[in-house]
Amino acid sequence: MAKQKVKDELLNHDYDGIQELDNDLPPWWLYLFYFTIIFGVVYMLHYHVLGTGDLQVEAYEKEMKAAEAQALARAQGQQSAAPLVQLTDEGDLAAGKEVYMVNCVPCHGQLGEGGVGPNMTDEYWIHGGEIADLVHTINVGVPEKGMISWAPILSKKQMQQVASYILTLQGTNPPNAKEPQGKKGGRINTIIDHGTRSDRSRPITTTPCHFWHVSLRKASWSEHGKFPSH
Ligand code: HEC
Repeated sequence: MAKQKVKDELLNHDYDGIQELDNDLPPWWLYLFYFTIIFGVVYMLHYHVLGTGDLQVEAYEKEMKAAEAQALARAQGQQSAAPLVQLTDEGDLAAGKEVYMVNCVPCHGQLGEGGVGPNMTDEYWIHGGEIADLVHTINVGVPEKGMISWAPILSKKQMQQVASYILTLQGTNPPNAKEPQGKKGGRINTIIDHGTRSDRSRPITTTPCHFWHVSLRKASWSEHGKFPSH
């Protein structure tokens, strides 16, 4: 029907010999035009009148909040919602001891007395002495001081087990214990812990233990235990 209305009607003017036809607008154009009007009204109602939609700034802020929450959850680690607790189950502690004996003894000592790595039996911690601190340290390692990230080697569960086992060594006073390093007590300000907790950008070093023994003795090992001042 729209088609029938199309008729060529010459308009009554002439520009340098060019004349203009007064045709009806094509239906596809008209419908598109009506659609944009309806869209505009709906848009205005949704975003500006009823306020049911988020404007750019709000949308941005919401997304940033969600991302922050995610980053925090990741930093607190271990994806699960359950807080990281010290395991007390015999089986877990035995498994933790096994992990310790296999991987940690060369640097932290058979009885946790320390060596290349710090003493695990005193109350002093460089990177914090709560279970979450220990698991975090084990997870990301302290590559610049010679401890690799154990993430490629140990599962999350194993890290929790070995950290729980280490905490059972508190106060055991083994012979030849290494002098205290770090701060007494539990949680420390983790900002000085070589970056923030969410810092995953640290390189994962997988250099073998003996290499570190050598290089650590040569390098600034006397700095060990000092707190960076920043
Ligand atoms: C190659 C030697 C080496 C091995 C192997 C090693 N560590 Fe370490 N570890 C270190 C050093 C060195 C430090 C001290 C880092 C520093 O001075 O900041 C350390 C620190 C730690 C800390 C933090 C101590 C504190 O005072 O805050 C924990 C926890 C820890 N190691 C656990 C482990 C566990 C668990 C294993 C075995 C899975 C292990 N380490 C194996 C060298 C090692």
